[in-house]
Amino acid sequence: MTTVPAPEAASIVIPVELRQPTRRHYLMCPPTYFAVEYSINPWMDPDRPVDTELAVRQWTALKETYQRLGHTVELIEPRPGLPDMVFAANSGTVIDGRVLGARFRARQRSAEAEFFRRWFLAHGYRDVIMPSGINEAEGDLAWTGSALLAGTGFRTDPGAHAEAQEVLGVPVISLQLVDPRYYHLDTALFVLTESGPTRSAQIAYHPDAFSAGSRRVLRRLFPDAVIATATDAACLGLNGVSDGLNVVLPWEATDLATQLKERGYLPVHVDISELRKSGGGPKCCTLEIRG
Ligand code: ARG
Repeated sequence: MTTVPAPEAASIVIPVELRQPTRRHYLMCPPTYFAVEYSINPWMDPDRPVDTELAVRQWTALKETYQRLGHTVELIEPRPGLPDMVFAANSGTVIDGRVLGARFRARQRSAEAEFFRRWFLAHGYRDVIMPSGINEAEGDLAWTGSALLAGTGFRTDPGAHAEAQEVLGVPVISLQLVDPRYYHLDTALFVLTESGPTRSAQIAYHPDAFSAGSRRVLRRLFPDAVIATATDAACLGLNGVSDGLNVVLPWEATDLATQLKERGYLPVHVDISELRKSGGGPKCCTLEIRG
């Protein structure tokens, strides 16, 4: 038997002109009724004041950033009494036009799922399936171009991973989250480049957010991943949105931005301080519609 050498961590630097951005289609919800009225993650302190107008301005700047980058943004109408509805990513996973909706763990958010289901039906999506297990959608499910990375430990049930695989017809790789500050996968990991016929996917993540076994899985699958520091993670820097070239992320994630530039990406900074009081960042506000 011959042994094949293990792949080395990538040392090839890709110049910016070789990175290929692709146009994206996003669904967002204005934070008109945004507030921190309950606490379902360690970031949320109902006693700390929230400036909803500032949240709206920051969210609007995020939306306009996407539009300036050439992406399409559609909107869903916010509903009073649902202060977390701005975090659209938690309400659907769309691959090849097939929609897997959400089922929230917290009763305070459960009504959001139905408004998103209706939005998809009203916009011509025929395959809209609602999960039977707790499934917080893109909060815990990240599409690499060939598989879904799926977080569990705080919100989405492991059984929902199997359900996502069955409904969406894509391979699902389960990952165990262990730090309550990084309660959703999208607070600890995001995809920078999706895999394609001639390239493998590239991701960024914060290893300490994952169990030892899941860290080994990530190292095995993504030997050239961008490894984010604790400081990057603590400002929700991993809650980024990449189009393959431009990477929208909180301005405080400076180490991460430096690493991304070295890899040929263009960091695009946004200020998301008000939404972070609820444990959210750019990605949480952004549901990607694929196909
Ligand atoms: N307050 C919201 C919650 O705890 C924040 C959700 C952020 N969304 C995300 N995709 N991480 O559910």
